Amino acid sequence: MTKVLVVYGSRHGGTRGIAERIGEVLRAERLEVEVAAADQVADVGGVDAFVVGSGVYMGSWLKEAVEFAQRHEAVLAARPLWLFSSGPLPGSTAKKGAEDPLTDALGPEEGPGSGGRKKILEISAATHPLGHRVFLGAFDPSESPRAMSERLVRMMPASRSLLPAGDFRNWDDIEAWAREIATHLAAVAVPA
Ligand SMILES: Cc1cc2nc3c(=O)[nH]c(=O)nc-3n(C[C@H](O)[C@H](O)[C@H](O)COP(=O)(O)O)c2cc1C
Repeated sequence: MTKVLVVYGSRHGGTRGIAERIGEVLRAERLEVEVAAADQVADVGGVDAFVVGSGVYMGSWLKEAVEFAQRHEAVLAARPLWLFSSGPLPGSTAKKGAEDPLTDALGPEEGPGSGGRKKILEISAATHPLGHRVFLGAFDPSESPRAMSERLVRMMPASRSLLPAGDFRNWDDIEAWAREIATHLAAVAVPA
């Protein structure tokens, strides 16, 4: 049976929820699936395919997701791999006008604010993912910030418009993408 590892970086649980839903869909498609936090994966031996995603903060993937991808670059490059970023909050004034979803979430490829995007470009160049999807995220202002940078952004007067509250995760989009992954893997199935 094809074994898929779904790995996520998540600060407030939104991306974990997406990873878990992807895992459920893949299981329903009769794949063997493990879903794990990026900093909890010790061993990637025996994994046939990977889905790796992270919540996006200030244009960057969370450190543990970046480090997972960098640490296992050679294995990821040798297996079917899909990436996802979970971030954009609709209506955020910072996001208006971006033409493509990756720019929307991770910022421009060059110039100011391109650091987080560049890291993902490097990882992608080294691992050749079959796709990189951006899913809308979730933000609950009643939860305490978990990082100093988050605390500072939330204190900014503009933070209400920069960070609209709500759960915008689009489960139909997420499930449809997971089914696409399952279809691809069925076509290259590992014999039982
Ligand atoms: C301080 C802060 C900064 C954020 N920066 C970005 C960003 O640069 N790009 C983006 O797409 N989403 C951004 N978001 C939205 C988050 O990515 C979104 O809330 C996501 O669902 C968080 O995932 P998590 O719950 O798994 O941590 C930001 C959210 C917060 C609170």
